[in-house]
Amino acid sequence: MRQAGRYLPEYRELRRRAGSFLDLCYTPDLAAEITLQPIRRFGFDAAILFSDILIIPHALGLQLDFVEGEGPRLETLDAKSVGRLRDQLAGDKTRRVYEAVAKVRDQLPAETTLIGFVGGPWTVATYIAAGGSSSDHPEAKSWARNDPASFRTLIQRLVDASVDHLSGQISAGAEAVQIFDSWAGELEGEDFQLWCIEPIAEIVTRLRAKHPQIPVIAFPRGAGERLKSFVAGVPDVAIGLDTRETPEAVSRLLPAYIPVQGNLDPEVLIAGGDALDREIDRVLEGFSGRPHIFNLGHGIKPQTPIAHVERLVTRVRESA
Ligand code: CP3
Repeated sequence: MRQAGRYLPEYRELRRRAGSFLDLCYTPDLAAEITLQPIRRFGFDAAILFSDILIIPHALGLQLDFVEGEGPRLETLDAKSVGRLRDQLAGDKTRRVYEAVAKVRDQLPAETTLIGFVGGPWTVATYIAAGGSSSDHPEAKSWARNDPASFRTLIQRLVDASVDHLSGQISAGAEAVQIFDSWAGELEGEDFQLWCIEPIAEIVTRLRAKHPQIPVIAFPRGAGERLKSFVAGVPDVAIGLDTRETPEAVSRLLPAYIPVQGNLDPEVLIAGGDALDREIDRVLEGFSGRPHIFNLGHGIKPQTPIAHVERLVTRVRESA
């Protein structure tokens, strides 16, 4: 997940040498190397490609910079300028991502799954409307409310691009894909259906027409009770659970055949000790009644001690 590399000295070292985050993303040897770093150290069962959800707007023609200490700065669009988006991803950018995927797949142990990803269209739209990170996304919300027709154009471009980008990653060697709708919880009422469920359902359906067997994990962060309508609307996906979902709520909301991923609190991973052991056991026991991929409930923090991650891997493996 986001910021994953920053807790590792070997990531910080490569990042320093490359100069910019985007150079890392677009240099296949470096992106592949960073993807492999945590696998070498910890031997996780799956690797997630090193890239970013904002590569899609960048490859659709919007300027993008990652500013040190500030985060992403993205060219802003509104109802009038939405036509500036290209209708196809720029191949010179995406080709480099697919090259990184192929390099990782070549070097990963056969039993380690490689996960590709995109952002959910709504989440990516919040960055495009605000020109970067924003706290409660007033720009995207008011655009969707005041001019739904042009907002739909934006979302539709992102849906099309997401299908192409996931398909490109799968063709290059990704064996599962994840859709990060990090700001889904901000959508209220029927907007959740319109801008979270329906776009993701279309992505999954069109992707499966090309790659019928591909496992898809959706992460509608903050969906809460709406997980129920999410799985009713999106066909055959595993669900990434954020830290706020409890096993009790999940068993009420999701049929037992639906796999879940999550949801250890990244703050507890920083704390370590008995609190960490208890949290690991809570997650393992809570989701033992269904297919479960052990993971965090959100991105790992840069200040996370490596020894705590080692502890986590040992305890989870011992329980298997
Ligand atoms: O973690 C990994 O290495 C896997 C690849 C990955 C990144 N971003 C790398 C990254 C993934 C899966 C993402 C997803 C992503 N990116 C999301 C969705 C998941 C989530 O966290 O909710 C979002 C919203 C983004 C957008 C984004 N990228 C932001 C807001 C930032 C700035 C974060 C900050 O605190 O500075 C990024 C940068 C980013 N993406 C980093 C990494 C490793 C940090 C780059 C650095 O400074 O070295």
